[in-house]
Amino acid sequence: MDFLQAAIEAARLGGRKLEEWGEKFTAREKSPANLVTEADLASQAAIFDYLRQLYPDHRFLGEEGLLLETGDSPYRWMIDPLDGTSNYVHRFPYYAVSIGLEKAGEMIAGVVYDPNRDEMFAAAKGQGATLNGSSIQVSTTDDLQHAMCMASLPVKVDRNHPAIKKFVQVLEQAQTVQRTGSAALNLCAVACGRIEAFWSVSLQPWDMAAGILIVREAGGTVTTTTAEQEFSVTTPDLLASNGQKLHQTLVQIFRG
Ligand code: IPD
Ligand code: CA
Ligand code: CA
Repeated sequence: MDFLQAAIEAARLGGRKLEEWGEKFTAREKSPANLVTEADLASQAAIFDYLRQLYPDHRFLGEEGLLLETGDSPYRWMIDPLDGTSNYVHRFPYYAVSIGLEKAGEMIAGVVYDPNRDEMFAAAKGQGATLNGSSIQVSTTDDLQHAMCMASLPVKVDRNHPAIKKFVQVLEQAQTVQRTGSAALNLCAVACGRIEAFWSVSLQPWDMAAGILIVREAGGTVTTTTAEQEFSVTTPDLLASNGQKLHQTLVQIFRG
């Protein structure tokens, strides 16, 4: 089985756990407004167990306290077992399992699985991006005025946070800006042309590892919001778009 197929199988296992826990979970706060449930943990355990028995030498990083750095394998799995926990807790059906695989610092495979719509977004480096097996591409809209954008704001964001100012600035220029609660799904929405752009300055590697490869393989562009430093999954700052002129327009707004 190749890496992408393994990631797809693992994401389905995770998704099944989210469904199983859907009516019986309890939620607690890891920090103010930052929630975790049994479903997050069960999904991560199912994904990790599955991938670990296939790839015992690989390294693993998962949101719910998973850090396996044994050995010096170039391969590292980055797992968000439930991206959109607040939505899950409120039964707002917009959340996903996200699994990315990096080799020597470069993303080579990624899947984002939405169990509510049974949508499996997938990409392997150099092989394009797919949604349930069919090829996907970013949109061709090139001006912000006709664009639907999405943003992730920091949890418990203060009204004076620079991210709020930027949010309002884009709000004034884009057709619409949504805040939906799952960075992984927002990236996939860019990849399949449902929206034109997504940005955040407060992401973790597991939120975006899979999604950035899916966007790039679908023909999109990923930079930091100001495009002044090189983008990396270890920096929290990301702007993903369809790569048209509106990317540069957004960069100019973010440069302020
Ligand atoms: C969150 C979502 C959300 C983003 C937060 C993330 P979680 O992930 O991706 O869109 O705004 O920064 O923490 O906690 O639900 O896995
Ligand atoms: Ca997340
Ligand atoms: Ca999560």
